[in-house]
Amino acid sequence: MSETLAFPRSTRVSQMQPSSTLAVVQAALRLRAAGIEIIDLGAGEPDFPTPDHIKRAAHAALQEDFTRYTPASGIKELKEAIIERLAEDYGIDYSPAQVMATAGGKQAIFNAIVTLINPGDEVLIPSPYWVTFPEIVAFAGGQSVFIDTEPTDFQLTVDSLEAHLTPRAKLLILNSPCNPTGRTIPPERFRQLVEKAVEHGLYVMSDECYREFVYPPMKPFCAGQLPPELRSRVLIVGTLSKTYAMTGWRLGYALGPEPWITEMIKVQSHSTSNPNSITQKAAIAALRGPQEPLIGMLEEYERRRDFLIPALNDIPGVSCLWPEGAFYAFPDIRGVLERSSLNSSIEVQRRLLEEYHVAVTAGAAFGSDGHLRISYANSLEALEKGVERLRAFVERLS
Ligand SMILES: Cc1ncc(COP(=O)(O)O)c(C=O)c1O
Repeated sequence: MSETLAFPRSTRVSQMQPSSTLAVVQAALRLRAAGIEIIDLGAGEPDFPTPDHIKRAAHAALQEDFTRYTPASGIKELKEAIIERLAEDYGIDYSPAQVMATAGGKQAIFNAIVTLINPGDEVLIPSPYWVTFPEIVAFAGGQSVFIDTEPTDFQLTVDSLEAHLTPRAKLLILNSPCNPTGRTIPPERFRQLVEKAVEHGLYVMSDECYREFVYPPMKPFCAGQLPPELRSRVLIVGTLSKTYAMTGWRLGYALGPEPWITEMIKVQSHSTSNPNSITQKAAIAALRGPQEPLIGMLEEYERRRDFLIPALNDIPGVSCLWPEGAFYAFPDIRGVLERSSLNSSIEVQRRLLEEYHVAVTAGAAFGSDGHLRISYANSLEALEKGVERLRAFVERLS
């Protein structure tokens, strides 16, 4: 028996699946290491470099030997910078005790779920969903209850939310703009959904990691703009990963009810402690510095989206809704599957990578096997090539 199989994994961890989105990245890297040119439409991260003024702040922090432990929830100046940014962008007000910095949005989500969910509690998750949500819910012993949004064009409705509420439901997760669909909940619908959840005694976690990535005429919306009686049940998760092209730096944050944040800080203080000290200084520069780099990135993503969606819809058997935010397209490929011997999006993902050297992510990873997730956080040139190869692949199948 191999050493791995003999390892007596805990029950919780043996139920956890490795991150399938990261798995695509690894598979693509392996091929690349073998000298093969890969069109990477799998990665969920900006293809832009971190802006220079942010990098300079990190250099300065190193020079100043800002290299020691900080408070587990981040330094005061960083919390103030997070609060100021949200105040300026959304006219909302949070106190430092309602804020914590984390090692990426992912850690904020982990802290939030494990501090709220007991074994048997239900967590309502609109589907398709970001892969990590149900894994953390299961890790906490909770039960994910998926709400299929496909019949309503990937938009969660108040009626379908209501139909899934049970006395055991404790948390609703909203993710707008959504990874993987790019669909974005309009503010009024957002309010109605939170109102319904709160009416039934639920808490809400609003994953706003793509909050700034919405395209006109949509405008960014933050759950902090909700009326106070709703806001007091809502935890906001944000990140600098996407907004400032800082995925590797690892800086996210949570804002919400003070008692919830207090428990989350307790968990963090016994797990990772503070987010990286240098990154915290860089994050202050990102939040307080010029916001123009983001505008440039947004315009570029919009240009790519405007190319990608019509190009996908032009491939026989493929149909794709128009994403209002994030940088993902989520085309329906059931028309392709039906006309071929392929049974699942995972097979399409594997064959596209191996035979056509295009990395995409199977919809199955997000709870929707009839789809693919295509990231347009890559150059227009790469997108053009990727679509061309996808078309060639589909045409060969039929
Ligand atoms: C929906 C969603 N939430 C949270 C995250 C976490 O990002 P990070 O931990 O890099 O801040 C991601 C990253 O891909 C995401 O797609």
